[in-house]
Amino acid sequence: MSKRIDVKDLNVYYGNFLAVEGVSINIAPRSVTAFIGPSGCGKSTFLRTLNRMHEVIPNARVEGEVLLDGDNLYAPGVDPVAVRSHVGMVFQRPNPFPTMSIRDNVLAGVKLNGGRLSRSEAQEIVESSLLGANLWNEVKDRLDKPGSGLSGGQQQRLCIARAIAVKPDVILMDEPCSALDPISTLAVEDLINELKEQYTVVIVTHNMQQAARVSDKTAFFNIAGTGKPGKLIEYAETATIFNNPKEKATEDYVSGRFG
Ligand SMILES: Nc1ncnc2c1ncn2[C@@H]1O[C@H](COP(=O)(O)OP(=O)(O)O)[C@@H](O)[C@H]1O
Ligand SMILES: [Mg+2]
Repeated sequence: MSKRIDVKDLNVYYGNFLAVEGVSINIAPRSVTAFIGPSGCGKSTFLRTLNRMHEVIPNARVEGEVLLDGDNLYAPGVDPVAVRSHVGMVFQRPNPFPTMSIRDNVLAGVKLNGGRLSRSEAQEIVESSLLGANLWNEVKDRLDKPGSGLSGGQQQRLCIARAIAVKPDVILMDEPCSALDPISTLAVEDLINELKEQYTVVIVTHNMQQAARVSDKTAFFNIAGTGKPGKLIEYAETATIFNNPKEKATEDYVSGRFG
């Protein structure tokens, strides 16, 4: 069930280092939002605050609020593990469990959440998740073979299948295509386009053509210099960010003048 995300005045720290400052942003359900900006401006850091992955790093913390359909993920008593089952994540390098079968890779997150499944329930989740990740036809005859036998692009779609198997509300992706060849990249982009019918999708990308192709809205982050915090500079419809941005820094970045 796709949910909206509302972030209010978020500051993100590593120990005493303020890595991202003062981000407020509203992300609609059933949409794709791209985060762009130069390396080190805090895109990954900010993304990880949206499912409380940030705080697995010692001394990492946030100030401010992240609301999922109005519920603050950082309210006292909220279990970060439960948050991560509602807000899934796909990483830069495909990371299937290499010795685990394709089937067990899909089910890994469901089992981690304590789900006890009958054989037919498990089969239903495996099939629907792999269909949802546009991978079913390629793997249906080898579900018991190891996930590591797949190509990089297939492995990334397997990771997306694993993420959707737990029926999340939101899917976060941090440069999900940066380790993939152009054909696999297009397959994942097609998939992202389909995922937004059911999920709120947020994707970090350094590839501006990709942001333009897949996203409805784009958020441009920037950093004033080393040691300074990253900030959200401009957030608008993707076409506006690329063709008619308000801020000079956005225009310089999207036209390739820096970063
Ligand atoms: N685990 C960490 N511990 C301390 N500082 C970090 C950590 N990860 C990232 N940073 C710092 O936070 C800032 C933002 O990094 P990051 O979010 O990775 O940027 P981006 O994804 O935009 O390239 C950088 O200054 C980076 O060095
Ligand atoms: Mg990053």
